[in-house]
Amino acid sequence: MLCIFTKNLKILSTFSFLITLLEDPAINEEQILNPNLSAQKALLIVLAWALAISVIIAGVYQIRLSDPYVRDVLNHHGQVTQGNAIFQLNCSGCHGSTGAGKVGPSLQRVTAHRSQVGLIDQITSGKTPPMPKFQASPQEMADLLEYLKTL
Ligand code: HEC
Repeated sequence: MLCIFTKNLKILSTFSFLITLLEDPAINEEQILNPNLSAQKALLIVLAWALAISVIIAGVYQIRLSDPYVRDVLNHHGQVTQGNAIFQLNCSGCHGSTGAGKVGPSLQRVTAHRSQVGLIDQITSGKTPPMPKFQASPQEMADLLEYLKTL
């Protein structure tokens, strides 16, 4: 895990070096002569930042993926019927029996915008009250994720 982190840090420092290069005053003088250069520079800075941000996101994803619980869940094969039962018991009170939303938001097509790892984090972390922290066995979590895909 630390290794992934340092690897990403190295990539990040390369980007920040690239950004300082782009902010070089020598280039600024040239820019007065050639206005196109400033647009190109701005575009490069935006691209460098976009890359840096993607590296951070990918790093966070890798760190979460290296969590033994997450890996265990992803190695289980989920059953939709079981997942439905777990959902009705624990989630339907807030998200509705069809996942259309009540107190909590609609979960229909939630898997289109949330990754499996992101969903596991959402369900187990308790980071967004009033949604409680759920502790499910890896098999139960895999069943629940399989059910969420059908919404
Ligand atoms: C006490 C009410 C409550 C219960 C019970 C509950 N949730 Fe939630 N849930 C919420 C609320 C409120 C949010 C919105 C949180 C926010 O983003 O601020 C949410 C958000 C979510 C999201 C993120 C939706 C998105 O569009 O990103 C998912 C996924 C989710 N809940 C799944 C579940 C599952 C699965 C269960 C059952 C194991 C569950 N919730 C039980 C209230 C609840």
